[in-house]
Amino acid sequence: MKDNRIGACILAAGKGTRMHSVSPKVLLKILHEPMLRFIYKELDQLFPEFLYTIIGHGAEDVRRAFPERAPDSFVLQEEQLGTGHALQCAWSAFDNAGLTHVLVVNGDTPFLSAAMARSFMAQSLELDADIAFLSITLDDPGAYGRVVRNNEAVQSIIEAKDYDPAVHGPEPREINAGVYCLKIESIAPVLGRLHNNNKSKEFYITDLIGLCVSAGMRVIGCNMGNDARLLGINSPLELVQAEEELRRRIVSDWQVKGVCIRQPESVRIGPDVILAPGAQICGPCELYGTTELHGDVQIESHCVLINSSVNAGSVVKSFSHLEKAVVGENCQVGPYARLRPGAMLQESSRVGNFVEVKNAVLGKGAKASHLTYLGDADIGAGSNIGAGTITCNYDGKNKHRTTIGQGAFIGSNTALVAPVEVGEQALVAAGSVITKNVPAKALAVGRARQENKERRNSFLICGK
Ligand code: UD1
Ligand code: CA
Repeated sequence: MKDNRIGACILAAGKGTRMHSVSPKVLLKILHEPMLRFIYKELDQLFPEFLYTIIGHGAEDVRRAFPERAPDSFVLQEEQLGTGHALQCAWSAFDNAGLTHVLVVNGDTPFLSAAMARSFMAQSLELDADIAFLSITLDDPGAYGRVVRNNEAVQSIIEAKDYDPAVHGPEPREINAGVYCLKIESIAPVLGRLHNNNKSKEFYITDLIGLCVSAGMRVIGCNMGNDARLLGINSPLELVQAEEELRRRIVSDWQVKGVCIRQPESVRIGPDVILAPGAQICGPCELYGTTELHGDVQIESHCVLINSSVNAGSVVKSFSHLEKAVVGENCQVGPYARLRPGAMLQESSRVGNFVEVKNAVLGKGAKASHLTYLGDADIGAGSNIGAGTITCNYDGKNKHRTTIGQGAFIGSNTALVAPVEVGEQALVAAGSVITKNVPAKALAVGRARQENKERRNSFLICGK
């Protein structure tokens, strides 16, 4: 492969009409990850330099979903006139990069693995194919392109809609998987000969096969048996079935590695989640993104954790929702807690029911046990936040911080109007509205003094 310069290209411009979704198909999620990310994860390993994505329908949404990717790796197909047209749109990028070969894959085939792509490319190059493709054999060829062979030799790929047994012969069960290896110099002269004279009125990449056969080129169809990883996703049902397949595999992998998963059939774990052996999870439960459980963490049922990490000895009780949150060691969260982005619970701190924490640090051993909002706050170690405490962090325009010193005690139903600081070991009386800083060790009372007055006409109120 020495003198070859190999790139890859993902066809991702189609609308995905059969998905009935406004969002581009490649952004539809499988275990909380856009379909396209699965392909990037595999192909980035093989093509760190030349990996192009053809976008069209919802192009800006696709770019925005992957801001880390080089802008010039996206190729715009303004009108989606078919897979062959998509390839034509990308051709000048391949030329400019000086590619000798390109791997082309459908964006709706998310489980193609790097190993599979690598061996397919190696085989295609070794056989010096002008064009090669992967195929699978299905009991029901469904809506896939049919691979027509004469004895063993590939003749063409005929799309399901256009397949006519009277013309093309008995319907084959071998179908095109939508993964191709093209030799640039061989395909360049035939690419312009694609036409849209078919039932869909589209330019098909698959017509290249017949064109190359007619031109006497070397065309190779690599059959992968019935490998389900090569199935495309074309309907919500197929999406959910593919997701369920992957979910089962991920859960059982973690079980084998020593994670205790109860009710495993209702546990959903994303492909990038990392779990330590000894962690305990009870379904139904969802762990997504870059979530990590370190050590003997316990996640009770009905929790959702997204891009969050939970450290050893901590318990996340039922019905808690964590997003971009960090839970230190030996903490207790929930039941019914909500940790939003930037919530950081240091060692042995506790957040109880109906407590919402956002962009706030709870120091070691601090507690907020009930009905509280802590937003944009630094809560000192060992402090106690009473039920109903609210950090009033937003003045309608800007967000402001609240700082509470170590060992402070905030009485129930306190409003802390930020920016404001409560000093170490200060005590804030229940029901206070705190608008001024409270010095260390002081007692702050920010409420009207209670007066008890004699009741008049009490008999009227009691109806006596
Ligand atoms: C395609 C193949 C079919 C194969 C199947 C495998 C063609 C004509 N047919 O059919 O032989 O069995 O995949 O899954 O290629 N796309 C563009 N621009 C377009 C049209 C489509 O980028 O103008 C992209 C789509 O976003 C999608 C991919 O190309 O990711 C395949 O398109 P799709 O419409 O799903 O083709 P299929 O009908 O599934
Ligand atoms: Ca498809």
